[in-house]
Amino acid sequence: MLHGVPIGHPLHPLLATFTLGSLAGTAVLDLTSVDPRAARVLLTTGLAAALPTAAAGITDWSSLHREQQRVGFVHAVANVTALSLYTTSLLMRLTGRTRTGRTLSFLGLGAASLAGYLGGHLAHRQAAGANHAESVTHLVPTGWHDLCTLRELPHGRPVIRRLGYIDLFVLRLGETVTILADGCSHLAGPLHQGRIAVEDGTPCIICPWHGSVFRLTDGSVVHGPATAPQPCLQTRLSEDGIVQVCV
Ligand code: FES
Repeated sequence: MLHGVPIGHPLHPLLATFTLGSLAGTAVLDLTSVDPRAARVLLTTGLAAALPTAAAGITDWSSLHREQQRVGFVHAVANVTALSLYTTSLLMRLTGRTRTGRTLSFLGLGAASLAGYLGGHLAHRQAAGANHAESVTHLVPTGWHDLCTLRELPHGRPVIRRLGYIDLFVLRLGETVTILADGCSHLAGPLHQGRIAVEDGTPCIICPWHGSVFRLTDGSVVHGPATAPQPCLQTRLSEDGIVQVCV
């Protein structure tokens, strides 16, 4: 749940928007000095929202590449600094030292902005949380393509096959051939090296890198860290035993 599997999208950025929005709103109220009570309420809201935001972030961080984890660690340190400043700011405000509280909040906003910048770097430059299987269906002309003969596919053991620029996970079970994009939607791990398992009566593939579980029937996610489904391609068998795949 903390990865965001039920909503099909990473949960952390969603919660971070709420947290940062509350804290930035506090700065606006402080600058305009409209209502100190409203600023306190907004600050408390931001601090409360920071807890689930951090929990989701740590959960995502635990399944990243080393380079991403390095940036993620500095992102977390900046956030902890921001939250410490904001917590002290709230205490100051509650004890009547509003001016000091406001100063601490502005310092907190600086640290939170740095954390936000690093979060953007992680998401957009290092593609943490992005769907790594999104481009698959754009790299091959649409329509039916011959892939290989049925005879050359082993029974019950996934193999990799290349179609144009894309790698495909191919699994033969009897006369049925299942084809998914091979690069895991989480961080492009090689699914053909994964393990076949049965979850809730449905055959699934477990990614060898961070353990995401996808249904073989439609590529949907059973367990994260992946939140985006794995592209599942339609297949058919020609009369002369050629496995064909539709992109
Ligand atoms: S690459 Fe991370 S779960 Fe597949």
